[in-house]
Amino acid sequence: MSSTVPSPLPTAGSLKGPLRLAIALLVVTTITILKGAMTTSTGSGLAFADWPLSDGSVMPPRSYTTLPGFFEHFHRLFGALAGALSLGLWAWLHFGGGVADRAARRTATLGLGLIIVQGVIGGVGVLKSLPAVTSVTHATLAQLTLATFAWLAYQLSERYRVTPVVTSVACGAGRKLVVIAVLVLVAQTVLGAVARHTNSPHALWTHVGNALVVFLVATIATAFAIGRIGDTPGIKGLARTIVLLMIVQIALGFVALGFRNAAGKTPENIANLGTAMVISVHVLFGTMLMVLVAMLAAHVFRATRAPDVVANAARVVS
Ligand code: HEM
Repeated sequence: MSSTVPSPLPTAGSLKGPLRLAIALLVVTTITILKGAMTTSTGSGLAFADWPLSDGSVMPPRSYTTLPGFFEHFHRLFGALAGALSLGLWAWLHFGGGVADRAARRTATLGLGLIIVQGVIGGVGVLKSLPAVTSVTHATLAQLTLATFAWLAYQLSERYRVTPVVTSVACGAGRKLVVIAVLVLVAQTVLGAVARHTNSPHALWTHVGNALVVFLVATIATAFAIGRIGDTPGIKGLARTIVLLMIVQIALGFVALGFRNAAGKTPENIANLGTAMVISVHVLFGTMLMVLVAMLAAHVFRATRAPDVVANAARVVS
């Protein structure tokens, strides 16, 4: 097709399949992150010293006879499944008959790239006995990968297509604010990951202090969103959920702080599954917050786009 020939926007029907696949990808990636959190919390990261196979096998007996083997191996399996789904979605959007627009195809490419990098960093980390640099990068990129898939699902949704431009605010209003909120959360994740993987008290207490910054910035961003573009579909629900989850997450952080093993991520933690689960839920909720704030950013970007983008959106250029 020529790049100048206008064609209608993809219909909701044509994107239903890719959207369902994107949602399946979100579910599988979330399970992968939870498994990864349990792997770290129980000190099971080196349950298998080889990679990409485990004990030289695709399904080693230790993966269903021991807990460390179960956490680490099923984290690998779910990661591989997420990679396969991401590749399938990328191929569908690129070669499936022009069902998606260019922005969605770019997001799918970014997501696929991130998940490949994730697999390699995780594998190299195991082969090098988990140096902090690979573990911290792996933990941070996991959240950014999930946020990218969530952004992609939004771009494939009916809501994305029907969201109108809010004409009462300036074009691009609030974008810097939501980007700062995402960056503050990334910093919070990096600090939490450094605390977790190096057992540094300095990183841990900076993480605790930065929770106040997260709270303030996210509260201001959600207040802006509700106050200025609150009629945009999805904004109010997102903003309320973010504030609620943030309060729960900070409370859970104090519980994690009280119960964590002062020795950090040692294999002995496998004996204390309750503590490992509490800390892993804190990691999971941190991931959910990152995704929700990224979704808020996606909605703000969509609602404050330039009006000529709306006119151009009447065509899909392939
Ligand atoms: C909204 C604020 C917060 C967010 C988004 C957040 C997020 C996270 C994340 C993502 C991790 C794990 C990083 C990784 O390895 O993947 C983590 C670790 C941790 N967080 Fe938070 N956190 C928040 C607030 C707090 C607070 C207020 C406390 C304590 C008072 C806290 C205590 C901890 C502890 C103790 C760990 C390390 C657990 C371990 O020993 O393995 N967090 N946090």
